[in-house]
Amino acid sequence: MRIYGRLLISLLALASVVIVSAGGAQAGKDKAVKAPPEPIDGALVYRQTCNRCHNARTVDELNPASWELVIAHMRVRAGIPQRDVEALLLWMNPPDQLSEAERIAQALEFYPDIPQLSQTCVQCHDTSRVRDAVSAGQDTAWWTVTLRRMRSYGAKIDTATEGELVTALADRASKAPQE
Ligand code: HEC
Ligand code: HEC
Repeated sequence: MRIYGRLLISLLALASVVIVSAGGAQAGKDKAVKAPPEPIDGALVYRQTCNRCHNARTVDELNPASWELVIAHMRVRAGIPQRDVEALLLWMNPPDQLSEAERIAQALEFYPDIPQLSQTCVQCHDTSRVRDAVSAGQDTAWWTVTLRRMRSYGAKIDTATEGELVTALADRASKAPQE
């Protein structure tokens, strides 16, 4: 009997340890559930998803106006998860979406000395991506890779213009902290 009593006590002790630790794990889980989900970078989704089945799309297909339609079509084709779709839509059509005329004016305002931007870089997105990259201090290598990618999407720039843009943007980025 005594031995059963002891066994019972140790079983109870063990059980409470299990309950406590299970409770701890549960609390941890609750926290994980409550934490807001990491925002998804729409540009990254684009880079990782949209060239899986085909190459470069053209400017006309990628401009903000047709974006929603394209994404809707591709969502079904490619089975893109809803959260990724939302990130893609938000990326190309941010809430403060500017008209093309406004995007051109914005490019000229921020980069009066780089007119190529207002001529060739506003069909698909505004210059906020360019400004982000400039203030991040991106270097020549980064701009070279990025502009090549923009061309593969259908940005209409020749090699000479691409070179000019790389030089001008890397130069601006190297002075970014003073801006
Ligand atoms: C699973 C493969 C697959 C993926 C991933 C994919 N596409 Fe497509 N896409 C296709 C096929 C196949 C076509 C041509 C046939 C069609 O239109 O259904 C196409 C056509 C297009 C077109 C031509 C216009 C149109 O609506 O028909 C555009 C633009 C396009 N895709 C953009 C995108 C973008 C942007 C993404 C990323 C969100 C993407 N695609 C991801 C398979 C894919
Ligand atoms: C045909 C449509 C199109 C045109 C034209 C275009 N872009 Fe883009 N741009 C995109 C897309 C789509 C993305 C997001 C996917 C990516 O980053 O590759 C992007 C992203 C960017 C980014 C962010 C890249 C990053 O990694 O943060 C920069 C900077 C940029 N573009 C600069 C430019 C410049 C400069 C031009 C003019 C030469 C240009 N774009 C023209 C479609 C375009």
